[in-house]
Amino acid sequence: MPVRVLGLSFSGHGSAICLVEDGQVVSAVNLERLSRVKFALATVPPYALPLAVVLKQTFGFDKVPPFANFYDAFPEMLRAVCGESELKKAGIDLVVKTHDNIRPISGDLEPYEEFCDYFAGTQTLFDLEHHLCHAYQAYLSSPFDDAAILTIDGTGENLERLGGQSISTTMAQGRDGRVSVLSEVVMPNSVGALYSSVTQHLGFREEQEGNTMALASFGTDRFYRQVRDDAVELLDDGRFELRQRPSGDGLHYLDAMAKFCPRRERGAPLTDDHFDLAWSCQAIAEEIIVHVARALQARTGKQSLAAAGGVALNCVANAKILRETPFNEIYVMPNAGDRGLALGAALYGYHVALGGKDRHPPAHDYLGCAPTDAEIVAALDAANDTEFKKSDDIAGECAALVAKGRIIGWVQGGAEFGPRALGHRSILADPRTSASKERLDAEIKRREWFRPYAPSVLAEHADEYFEMLGPSPYMLLAVNTRRDMRDKVPAIVHVDGSARVQTVARDTEPLYHRLISRFHEITGVPLVLNTSFNGYGEPMVETPTDAVAAMHSMGLDALGIGDYLAWTRGTSP
Ligand SMILES: [Fe+2]
Repeated sequence: MPVRVLGLSFSGHGSAICLVEDGQVVSAVNLERLSRVKFALATVPPYALPLAVVLKQTFGFDKVPPFANFYDAFPEMLRAVCGESELKKAGIDLVVKTHDNIRPISGDLEPYEEFCDYFAGTQTLFDLEHHLCHAYQAYLSSPFDDAAILTIDGTGENLERLGGQSISTTMAQGRDGRVSVLSEVVMPNSVGALYSSVTQHLGFREEQEGNTMALASFGTDRFYRQVRDDAVELLDDGRFELRQRPSGDGLHYLDAMAKFCPRRERGAPLTDDHFDLAWSCQAIAEEIIVHVARALQARTGKQSLAAAGGVALNCVANAKILRETPFNEIYVMPNAGDRGLALGAALYGYHVALGGKDRHPPAHDYLGCAPTDAEIVAALDAANDTEFKKSDDIAGECAALVAKGRIIGWVQGGAEFGPRALGHRSILADPRTSASKERLDAEIKRREWFRPYAPSVLAEHADEYFEMLGPSPYMLLAVNTRRDMRDKVPAIVHVDGSARVQTVARDTEPLYHRLISRFHEITGVPLVLNTSFNGYGEPMVETPTDAVAAMHSMGLDALGIGDYLAWTRGTSP
């Protein structure tokens, strides 16, 4: 019988589940993809108030969506990765979860107690530290045996061993399947907290830090020196401090921000003040991250860096680590934030708790369950106003549509576990015209004009268009677009000339590689515009039914799903 370990992540930033069998990651899914309610809405931390009150007050929900409470959602999550909703039937040997508390602070304890009963009779390990789990998440999913490890986020849980303090950053190293921690940074010193504060000051929600990163490219260094000198101290050992207010009741940089630019209301116009504040925030974050990484490299002497934690999704900072430190390769776990803890917990359970020896790091991020042909046909048959046909060459047909300027959905195999669409739950468009970006912004994605779209480029042609720093299969490195190429692909070049590149290799992703190769043959351009297949504020589509519904609601010209090409009745793709 195979050894089966389940990893869980239940946090205020999202929930997820991951199944590892004999050290292989079999499947992993985020709760938001099942509940269809994005991130924090799909997961309830241990508030004192009843769920309905929290959802109304915090998120404006009039009713509790299905699975909004992760206790209720758990059996469905288990079914998604194992095909069974009971641990015994699923043959689970061990369940591992981080230490983050999910017990309500007060009020109705019954759902929590029922949740705990669910695990009776199964071996559990529910007290793995948040940052240690991030470290294993980064290291054990990486291709490296011997590596430095950086975990960096907003904050972990309050830890008794630190007198109730919580960790924001860990410097560690990994070897022979084990992590050893070298140094920790505690709150309130946190790049993630600083970045989130600025993001909210700029009028965006939790988990919209990518907006701040995008805005930064429009800004200047006007506020930088003062904010930097007021707020940050870099320590010789690689750690850092963010200054407290003199009264000790909060963070000094919040005052500094308000001085330069009043808090922006959501939806209010953006001005140079906002761009310049975002620029300073991004620059400070980069400076701290590079400082920590440089010290970690000096201390460990390693060439390879594995990273996780929400801040590791900052693709501009990741590129800077490669440019400005002696590390010559970096692996950022594609689901770097707290949802990815589920994978870290499962791999920790197999390798550390159960002593499993053979490592099988995942070769890709397509860890969701692949729909069957029958499920695809059933979803297409059941949808109103939908025509479809089976294709002998779905990649070639879709490439030809994109080359004609069509904007299409592209759904193949298991969904991406991380937040970036990498060609399994993607919307694809022609990168050669800025009309693609304009139509996506205005009609399809309905998103902010300042956010860039990313390219998926054939790995073997990436250097022709971009100043690459190595492979970037997970879209977690921002690099410069070569000057002489920018006019050829205006839809995927950000205002500062950068691009968040995904390199697509033939051996790991043959079908997507074929689509882009056909586009290359037709147009002479070896890349397509790739953006996640979701409506504004929604999670990425998961099932064929989600995808067909989204094709209609978003007004896509066609959908390539499995071997089938679908379109709205009465139109021609
Ligand atoms: Fe975290």
